[in-house]
Amino acid sequence: MSGNQKLWGGRFAESTSALVEKFSESVSFDARLYRQDIAGSQAHARMLAKVGVLSETDAQAIVQGLDAIRDSIESGRFEWSEQLEDVHMNIEARLTEAIGEAGKRLHTGRSRNDQVATDLRLYVRDTIDALLPLIDRVTEGLLNLAEREADTVMPGFTHLQIAQPVSFGHHMLAWREQMLRDRSRLVDCRKRLNLLPLGAAALAGTVYPIDRHYVAELLGFDGVTENSLDTVSDRDFAIEFCSVASLIMVHLSRWSEELILWATPMFGFVNLPDRFCTGSSIMPQKKNPDVPELVRGKTGRVIGNLQALLVLMKGQPLAYNRDNQEDKPPLFDSVDTVRACLQVYAEMIPAIEVRRENCRAAAAKGYSTATDLADYLVRKGLPFRDAHHVVGSTVAYAQKKGCDIAELDLAELQAQSKLIEADVYACISLEGSLAARNHYGATAPTQVRAAIARARQRPS
Ligand code: ARG
Repeated sequence: MSGNQKLWGGRFAESTSALVEKFSESVSFDARLYRQDIAGSQAHARMLAKVGVLSETDAQAIVQGLDAIRDSIESGRFEWSEQLEDVHMNIEARLTEAIGEAGKRLHTGRSRNDQVATDLRLYVRDTIDALLPLIDRVTEGLLNLAEREADTVMPGFTHLQIAQPVSFGHHMLAWREQMLRDRSRLVDCRKRLNLLPLGAAALAGTVYPIDRHYVAELLGFDGVTENSLDTVSDRDFAIEFCSVASLIMVHLSRWSEELILWATPMFGFVNLPDRFCTGSSIMPQKKNPDVPELVRGKTGRVIGNLQALLVLMKGQPLAYNRDNQEDKPPLFDSVDTVRACLQVYAEMIPAIEVRRENCRAAAAKGYSTATDLADYLVRKGLPFRDAHHVVGSTVAYAQKKGCDIAELDLAELQAQSKLIEADVYACISLEGSLAARNHYGATAPTQVRAAIARARQRPS
């Protein structure tokens, strides 16, 4: 295609070098914005007709021509051309081929700078709208699992050492809290981005009597952006999205790490169904937790994409710079990755089999009720520091004997402290310890069930 055949070719004396065409094209990745691009153009054309810049007939032809182009893209008939650089010029050129003169009038009062800003905001908005129901499936799955395992005792950890018994359901509700915060971050990001860029044109606005609020209404924006220079240069919304995507991945990655540990024979807390695992090509006995491992691994990519966008923006003067074309591959990769990871988690969570006996045995092995014995002694009048000391020596004694403190008989316990009586066993059993943490936000199964009931009442 020679220079002056390009949509912008009027002032050019020679054709773009083939190398530069290849180097600067974006259609190979921004073609995925076609739906947003078409919707934006249709709204722009309708507005131009409304304010009298375009005839009603031309606007009609444009809207219908763009509908036909969308159909041809979706049925795979559309031929994308690298020489036409990006999604915007591919569609505009095809429109003009199809409807003639009217197609050439579409770009009146608009620039690709406000066009791409609009497409991208619409795209991130559509993405958020598609991710929210997926997140809801994940959090709903966790709620159901929490209900199923409210009475299951497992060790709670600090420093990855056995600390105190907790309900498995309580642990699932902790995961859910993380994801609920991410959900509200997405909702928040959507609110802030939902303003119309069109009208900013190249950078300074346009001479036509445009009606930006009408376009905003047609496209479902809550309003219009305030400043044309800021509008064409702003990619904060993409950075915000990638930042929320990174947090989602960090949470999924932490869950993955726990599941991977829990699925080992040394923990044996869960069994991941075969359909979420793969085997080894050499070791016939292996069943590997590849899904959580891959989620943990993909987290690096998504965090990297956030870094890429931050660094992309940090040196840019106002207003639009072509650097911004580089925003799309990292953004799209984060969208695809976070969607795929949420999908696989939404499927896997309800299928997690909890091995209750192993969870319980692990909690019993780790002297996880030692704090409960100290609290018991405090209730009998001993200062906490002294109680701490008594329990330390009781644990050492039980360790030597190779049993849990709840397995020592009363005489053995009384040798440690005269204050201990038969009622101690209700406190230092796993179930007793769990049930005693009985307040809002704590792990007693009754509290876990209350938390689930509250969750079911308030919509996320
Ligand atoms: N492909 C470009 C992008 O993604 C579209 C805007 C181009 N604008 C320009 N003035 N060259 O940012």
